[in-house]
Amino acid sequence: DWTPDSFVEETVNSLKEQLGDDKVVLGLSGGVDSSVAAMLLHKAIGKNLHCIFVNNGLLRKNEFSTVLDRYEGMGLNVKGVDASARFLEALAGESDPEKKRKAIGRVFIEVFDDEAHAIENVTWLAQGTIYPDVIESVSVTGGPSATIKSHHNVGGLPDYMKLKIVEPLKMLFKDEVRRVGASMDMDKELLGRHPFPGPGLAIRILGDITSDKVRILQEVDAIFINGLKENGLYDKVWQAGAILLPVQSVGVMGDERTYENCVALRAVESTDGMTADWVNLPYEFLQKTSNTIINRVKGVNRVVYDISSKPPATIEWE
Ligand code: XMP
Repeated sequence: DWTPDSFVEETVNSLKEQLGDDKVVLGLSGGVDSSVAAMLLHKAIGKNLHCIFVNNGLLRKNEFSTVLDRYEGMGLNVKGVDASARFLEALAGESDPEKKRKAIGRVFIEVFDDEAHAIENVTWLAQGTIYPDVIESVSVTGGPSATIKSHHNVGGLPDYMKLKIVEPLKMLFKDEVRRVGASMDMDKELLGRHPFPGPGLAIRILGDITSDKVRILQEVDAIFINGLKENGLYDKVWQAGAILLPVQSVGVMGDERTYENCVALRAVESTDGMTADWVNLPYEFLQKTSNTIINRVKGVNRVVYDISSKPPATIEWE
């Protein structure tokens, strides 16, 4: 029978055997999958695992420093690379969703490749690929959902990197990954994190991206997500986030007419992200969240709640 404990034991043993004294590089995203993969490898090969955590400037508020601290606290050999400016530059003026994804994917590979080359004699690339990623990436090349969205976290490696691939979670579903993490005593908050897309807030800012828009969305997102946590709703939701719409609307603040941005809040229930239902969040919670956002975040005067399910809507708006 499959148990998380036996999975950890067997995987650590087979990683030891497979990797010996080889060096491995792994890109951490702050999410569950890459973190659990890193922990398994850390148990197997310790300091021979070199982790890289890239700040693409599109993470959540304070996420880069908080997550980096957490990784260091876990004993991981991790290097944080702040490449925000490089990503924002590559994205400047670009509004097309797929072109934004491609630009982010390209810069990520450039940054990661530079960092990986700086590690001497590295021969392996580890990835936190899980079973649903394997299935979805197949459909990108031909299935019925071909290229609906080009998720860049699978198969995005340039040939010239010539690293061997190790993917310890490839046969697991998300809930199994969380259980494996728990059996290694990993932080509960980390294991319970909602999925967050690789391109981050870039695909939640509809249209072109500027650092001002990123800042506005980070503030809105933080109010929403912290509110979910404070009200015991975070764990009841599979994924949640805020979207900055390319729409200004008229409002009134005191005696003044305003003409500001509109944000949408989205919270979904799902098991694998392939289908999803919008969550019936309590009206009082939505009311309070909306008031807080409009009062605190300069540049936002309207909040809407997304009540579309997938299909036909997708979880992200881009
Ligand atoms: P959609 O919007 O396709 O999202 O219903 C399904 C799940 O995939 C995530 N998502 C992405 N993840 N790169 C990623 O790593 C992407 O480009 C991307 N687009 C969507 C989304 O957050 C949801 O969990």
